[in-house]
Amino acid sequence: MTALTDRMRTCAAHGMTFAYADPPYLGCGKLYPEHPAARDWDDPHTHYRLIDRLFDEYPDGWVLSCHEPSLHILRAYAGRDCRTGIWVKPFAVFKPNVNPAYAWEPVIFRGGRKFERYDDKVRDWVAANIRMQSGTIGSKPRDFCRWVFSLLNARQGDTLDDLFPGSSAVAAAWAEWTGDQSPLPLLPLEMSAS
Ligand SMILES: C[S@@+](CC[C@H](N)C(=O)[O-])C[C@H]1O[C@@H](n2cnc3c(N)ncnc32)[C@H](O)[C@@H]1O
Repeated sequence: MTALTDRMRTCAAHGMTFAYADPPYLGCGKLYPEHPAARDWDDPHTHYRLIDRLFDEYPDGWVLSCHEPSLHILRAYAGRDCRTGIWVKPFAVFKPNVNPAYAWEPVIFRGGRKFERYDDKVRDWVAANIRMQSGTIGSKPRDFCRWVFSLLNARQGDTLDDLFPGSSAVAAAWAEWTGDQSPLPLLPLEMSAS
């Protein structure tokens, strides 16, 4: 991966620098055999180091995706200065032996551009269908990405470092958000949800 696609720097004079981190969820390293160090994410300390990095390198703001089974561990480590948001999946993967199904995912987020009093309100949750057939397990849908950018109150001229690019869906959504690229064609599920 090139530095450009990895970091998506737009380098504007007064822009803020944010990060979105979407690592293999705790205990899910086996889902990513394409990466030699994917199993490192089965250890909570790898996630702790990532959270430390987010605090250290991204004081302007960051968003970290995780799954419900690890939320109590990671949220406790991240501390009080963070908030939790929820991605609800009206259409989700239903596994035969898992009932109730996992149909939402948390994000832990911190910072972001200060909202002004009359700015539109951003909810701390979003409903968006999962993205299918992206080639990367856990690829994030466009509406989820746009919600992440909204949480950070991100604007054109800001920088987003997508630390785990996977399918590059976040990069594509960011390019659209910042006006660097015309809107991408919606996938069928995204069309039916909007
Ligand atoms: C949840 S997916 C990211 C999905 C991405 N946000 C998207 O929308 O397509 C996690 C990604 O991290 C990669 N990965 C696994 N182990 C890694 C490691 N040790 N360092 C960096 N990336 C890793 C996986 O190959 C996978 O592409």
